[in-house]
Parts: sequence; structure tokens; C-alpha cells
Amino acid sequence: MNLEHALKDPIFKIISKSADELDMECYVVGGFVRDFLLDRNTAQDIDIVAIGSGIELAKQVAKNLPNQSKVSIFKTYGTAMLRHGTIALEFVGARKESYRKESRNPEVEDGNLDDDQKRRDFTINALAIGLNASNFGTLLDPFNGIKDLENKRIVTPLDPNITFSDDPLRMLRAVRFATQLEFEIDPKSLGAIKDNFQRINIITKERIVVELHKILESPKPSIGFLLLEKTGLLDVILPEITALKGIDDVEGQRHKDNFYHTLEVVDNIAKHTDNVWLRWTALLHDIGKAPTKKFSKKVGWTFHGHELKGSKMVYHLFKRLKMPLNDKMKYVQKLVFMSSRPIALSNENITDAAVRRLVFDAGEYIDDLMTLCEADITTKNPRKFKKYHNNFKLVRQKMIEVEERDRIRDFQPPVTGEEIMKAFELKPCREIGIIKEFIKEAILEGHIPNEYQAAYDLMLEKGTQLGLTTAS
Ligand code: CTP
Repeated sequence: MNLEHALKDPIFKIISKSADELDMECYVVGGFVRDFLLDRNTAQDIDIVAIGSGIELAKQVAKNLPNQSKVSIFKTYGTAMLRHGTIALEFVGARKESYRKESRNPEVEDGNLDDDQKRRDFTINALAIGLNASNFGTLLDPFNGIKDLENKRIVTPLDPNITFSDDPLRMLRAVRFATQLEFEIDPKSLGAIKDNFQRINIITKERIVVELHKILESPKPSIGFLLLEKTGLLDVILPEITALKGIDDVEGQRHKDNFYHTLEVVDNIAKHTDNVWLRWTALLHDIGKAPTKKFSKKVGWTFHGHELKGSKMVYHLFKRLKMPLNDKMKYVQKLVFMSSRPIALSNENITDAAVRRLVFDAGEYIDDLMTLCEADITTKNPRKFKKYHNNFKLVRQKMIEVEERDRIRDFQPPVTGEEIMKAFELKPCREIGIIKEFIKEAILEGHIPNEYQAAYDLMLEKGTQLGLTTAS
């Protein structure tokens, strides 16, 4: 097959010329070829395999580029990187052993294209296109990756036990590609993941999280989480999620299976947001339910305090996975903590005061919180489904009304501490806080509007009540 039309970008001609100058064979492989054939946005990361020194080839390409791009060399890995506009070119010399594992070992023997292709993770990632003038555009597909692309299959080129032991991260990559591309993992490869899942423990957390993110960013993340669960990987990586599995039945009283519910919520939210942190929130919103689950004859199953428990667990989970313990984590924690608030609200008579309080507590996260809560509606009862969505519509409507009037979202105290001090000739003291809190509460409860004059009058009233005297 000739794929010259995949190589329209002028950079390929420059690589071709450079390789011929060095009398070196070279190929474009991996994601670029796969995504071109799948008609996906072709990758901006382009992998080039040289039958020889990848570093030498990179240097030659840099020489031939008009703007003399800088080559970054990774000696221990035997690779070189070159940026050209928005494209990142990675050059590697073909090796006899898995280039991922053995490239860290300088002793490893150089290999030919075939050696390189069979040491790659999946047949769909082992497709190569020739770049030399003699074979420019020729597809080399020794493992029938094209057929696997057509049949939507993730298959390892070698015995999967070998491929996965070369780099156990590939087990997770298999799940990630299955999710991103909506492909099936070949039964033999799937079986090998089930046999080897514990080996994921030798992989760094950072690499694992990259794959988790890609699964979560996919159109239907549940595909990945179901596969992770089925293979045993999920229990190693995210035991908080597997702990949600199962339905308990005591004296005929059952609760829903929170694992499958969670996956539905994640799929629902994926239709409404690309924000991966909001998707994380959907995945983690119920994790506090496993440790807080209780049964009593009187009320059946309860999960009291699961939101607080869950938000604390978020910290430990992020820490364990070496995820950032920054504002992203705080965002996830806060949304998990507040995840039941709008639901509780929409079950009651929706008062202005309750809506104001919700907006006040959620602050800038209110829209995301509402998106989460709407995704959380997974009832199969059409009547209830409609009712809950209608209630949320009402909450949203009221939020708009209340916000127009009282601007609670970015609440700033209408009377400042300084003004209170001035009015009563005070030095910093407890009373200032009490008055500020009293004004805020009055606004949230709707006793006064969020306006300066009303707040000032209330300040005078409360101050007098506290025994303070105004400045004359
Ligand atoms: N590869 C591999 N084993 C790994 C990682 C990568 O064999 N553990 C090979 C595959 O041939 C892959 C190529 O290296 O296609 C490039 O890897 P990478 O950039 O991580 O992935 P892509 O396939 O390009 O896909 P994506 O950009 O979606 O991550």
C-alpha cells in the first residue's frame, strides 16, 4: 500500500533527504500512522525510527531545516527530539530488544525495522511508512495492523506475555486505546492482562495517571473502567472505586450498586464537559459511600457523611497517585463535598434562601456542581428522571433570579471591616467579625438585600445590640 498522501507535510521530504544523505534507512511509525489511517487528528508528535543512529539523523534533519532547530539529545535513551513549528519529532534508532525497556541499556544491539516493529506494543502502533526516496510512502505492516484497525482490535505483535513484560504500562495502554478508539482488546491479550495485572505496580504513578487521564478524556470513559475492573487493574490503581461494587441485601432492603452508578455518572458528564477535573469529580463523587455504609432496621441503608469522608479520601488518593495537591485537587474535593447539596435542595420546596446559600457555598464552582448533579441522575424510572431534571431546571431558574438581585456568586461583604471600625471607633476586635457574619446571614436568608445602605443600617442596629456606640 502506498501512503504518500500521509506525508504531505514538507518536513517528511526534509527527513527523507537527510536520511539519504547519511545513507540511512528511516521510517515514520506509531501513533502518526495509526491516526492517519483512522482519520483522527494526526498527531503532532511524530516518531521516526532510524536503522542506525537516531541522534545522527536528528542532527542532519536540523541542519537541513531553514531555521536551524535545536536538537535535544537523550543519550541514555539513545533518542533525540526536534521541534519544528507545532510538530515534535522524536528520533530513535531501531533496537533488537524492546526499545522502551532496553533503550535504557546502552549495551543493546542495533536492529532492523522488523526487530523494532515486533517490540512495539500493539499491531496498530507497529505500522511504519518508508521515508527514503526509494520507498517514500510505502506501508510496512508485518503484523497485519491494517486488518486490526479495520476489525477494531487491540492485539500485541508478539505473545502478549512478552509484550507486557517488556513494559507493563502497556496493559493500561491497551485499556486506554480500547476506550479512546472504542476497540476490543483481543481475548489473548486480555487474558494476559488478567494474568499480569499486579506488574502494574512497577510502573511510576505519573505514567499511570497519564493513561487514566486519557481514559477519562474519552467520549465514553466507562469502557475503560469496566475493562480495568475486569482485568484486576482497577483494584490496584483505584481501590476506592472497586470498593463501591456490589449490592447488599438485608431483609429485602437493597441499595444500588455504586460502582455501576458511578460509571454512568462519568459517561453522563462526559457528554457535557471536557474538563478532565470535573470528570474526575464524577468518578470520585461517591467514594465516601463504601466506608460510611450502614444498615439499620428503621431506615435501611445509609451513607451518612459520605461527602465529607469522600472529600478527605480525595486527598489521599491524589497523594498516592502523585497527582498535584493544588487547586485542582481542592476543586475536586470541594465538588465531592458538595455533591449532594443541589439534589437535597431540589427534593424540597426550593426557597430563595436555600438557593442563595448553595450559590454562596459553591462560589465559582456552582455551574460545575450543577453539571455534576445533573449527571448524577441515573434513575431508570422515567417519571422520577423527569421530575429530578425539572427540579434542577427550577433550581437553575431560581439561581438566575437570585443572582440578578443579590450577586451572591462573588460575594463581597457590602460593609467592610474598616467601615465597621470607623462607625464604632473600634480597634480590631471580635465584634467586627460578629457584625460581618450577621450581615452576611441576613443577606443569605433574604432579610435584607445585598446593598450597601441596608447593610449599613443593619450594622448600626447589630452594633448597638452588642453594646457598641457610634462615633459622634
Ligand atoms: N510504544 C510502545 N510501548 C509503550 C509506549 C509506546 O511500544 N509503552 C510505541 C508505540 O509504537 C507507539 C509509539 O511508541 O505508537 C509512540 O508512543 P506514544 O507517543 O506514547 O503513543 P502514540 O501511539 O503516539 O499515541 P498517543 O499519542 O495517543 O499517546
